[in-house]
Amino acid sequence: MSDVFEIPKELLRLFSKVERVAVLTGAGISAESGVPTFRGADGLWSKLNQRELASMDAFLQNPQRVWEWYQQRKKIMRDVQPNTAHLALVDLEKMFSHFSIATQNIDGLHTRAGSRTVYELHGNIERNRCASCGALYELESEAIVPPRCHCGGLIRPDVVWFGEMLPEEAWQKALDAARSAQLYISIGTSAQVYPAAGLPFEALSNNAFVVEINLEPTELTPYAHLSLHRKAGEILPKLVEAVKKERSFC
Ligand code: OAD
Repeated sequence: MSDVFEIPKELLRLFSKVERVAVLTGAGISAESGVPTFRGADGLWSKLNQRELASMDAFLQNPQRVWEWYQQRKKIMRDVQPNTAHLALVDLEKMFSHFSIATQNIDGLHTRAGSRTVYELHGNIERNRCASCGALYELESEAIVPPRCHCGGLIRPDVVWFGEMLPEEAWQKALDAARSAQLYISIGTSAQVYPAAGLPFEALSNNAFVVEINLEPTELTPYAHLSLHRKAGEILPKLVEAVKKERSFC
């Protein structure tokens, strides 16, 4: 692969014509900030058992272990900064009348970067809620053990675990955006975890042009109109600069 990367002309032409753009992001977009991804050789799930850490059963069996793991991840996520890919999406949003990001990430980095329309499909690690009554908690201090709610229930991170439903409003908005998009961009996701992984297919069924930006081929690659296999932090800033020029001439 040559080191000089050019944004494909067909993509730029498309960007000059559309007004409805929707994006799906996954762990890969935060990798360059220093947040570990899940799959692949160095991914979290290559070393850890997801069923022991990211399910309600795991929490009920060993609340302390699950709580500690999320506290560690929260610390990593708090200490990192949005990268050039997150920042490029902030600029991209300003160029379109309809633009949204559905993210599987719980790190809040899109919002911290300044993106306005963000649907957090898997929750946010900064929030907590009671596992029994659902009351939301913003915990000021770092609890070492999972605290108890006033109802007596255990407090857990407000994230989606395996076997759980996605937050209804965020999901519905992400689905509407995918179904009405003219251009759909999937960034840094292995496209394996449903229902989020189904969003680009919703876009395809509704005649959107689907672009994938991911380090390596994924389950989506055979179906996407265009797949760019490079780092998101390399492609997106170039893409945004090129789109700015393209749209200022039309
Ligand atoms: P994965 O770890 O499954 O996939 C991340 C993808 O990003 C991989 O295909 C990498 O090749 C790619 N990647 C890594 N670095 C990149 C970079 N700098 N630029 C572009 N691509 C890069 O993460 P997700 O698809 O987000 O769910 O995983 C989906 C869900 O599975 C997560 O939300 C989480 C996990 O289990 C829950 O915890 C419920």
